Amino acid sequence: MNSEEILKKIEQALNKAKVEFNEKINEKNLDEIYKNYLGKNSLLNNILRGISDYEPEIRKNVGLSVNAAKSQIEEIYKNLKEQLKADNNPAGSSLRIDMSLPGVKIEPFHTHPITAVLNDTVDFFSSMGFEVVEGPEIETTHYNFDALNIPDNHPARDIWDTFYLKNGFIPRTHTSSVQVRTMETRKPPLRVIAPGRCYRYESVDATHLFMFNQVEGLFIDKNARLSDLKGILEATVKHLLGAKKTRFRPAFYPFVEPGLDLDIECVFCHGKGCSVCKSSGWIEVIPCGMVHPKVFEYAGINPAEYKGFAFGMGFDRLVMLKYNVNDLRLLYSGNMDVLNQF
Ligand code: PHE
Repeated sequence: MNSEEILKKIEQALNKAKVEFNEKINEKNLDEIYKNYLGKNSLLNNILRGISDYEPEIRKNVGLSVNAAKSQIEEIYKNLKEQLKADNNPAGSSLRIDMSLPGVKIEPFHTHPITAVLNDTVDFFSSMGFEVVEGPEIETTHYNFDALNIPDNHPARDIWDTFYLKNGFIPRTHTSSVQVRTMETRKPPLRVIAPGRCYRYESVDATHLFMFNQVEGLFIDKNARLSDLKGILEATVKHLLGAKKTRFRPAFYPFVEPGLDLDIECVFCHGKGCSVCKSSGWIEVIPCGMVHPKVFEYAGINPAEYKGFAFGMGFDRLVMLKYNVNDLRLLYSGNMDVLNQF
């Protein structure tokens, strides 16, 4: 062998050792690899032993590179050995764990305020025998309008600022569409709530976004009455907002008759009048009413046999009132400095 060939062999042995060490990292294998490359009969030691056979001028080179390779292998072996020890006994290892490093602070989980109030609302209505139902956010104008007694070309449709999609569908403007879907697929008596996102073409400000949450409610039974609606909704605002004083005002929604708005005494000024209640002392919280006979007819329910009431809470507003948040956008900002305050 000439000097180049020997040096190449040494380098190959070193590289092979590295690869093997890398691949087999359990103790037994480490020792085996060590023996193969640095043991008595290893290639490297054999080269050293026969070094006197080489020409004097290449002896020095061969000797140097064998020793360099040996100490590299030795080093890798020692490090891996120590690492193995640390892996098996992490607590006692000084090599792997720096005890002086500050720990990672784990923030405790908490629900988003809107989700928290929604969960509470669902629990509250469940306790009164209501079930949760859902409907699609992308709706047909039939379910969002026509079947709710809001015919095409009728001025009542202007109440809802609607986005129209190119394919003829619309992002629902209210969860009332779920009323119709539920009446079509289930038989009365019914007690359901339908929470979900709705969309309206609004310019965004402190109390309006183009997307918001509503919780629809529908109660149908043979002898459902306005006083049932009153009792249930008064209990609801008492539970959710601690409201003590409430009032019902007449209002118009094409799918209810009579239609009403439930107001609560302003939670900020207690009826004295402030900027939130626009000096009226009252805040409107839940639009509602008795289901219109036409809506029953559309859904295939006999209005002579069944009565019902419906309501649609603007849910984000309720959360704002509950926690005294003055800008709706804060609730959707994802800003942890804000959210951590709840
Ligand atoms: N869907 C109506 C709205 O979004 C609210 C409503 C629901 C009114 C149910 C009466 C009964 O404006």
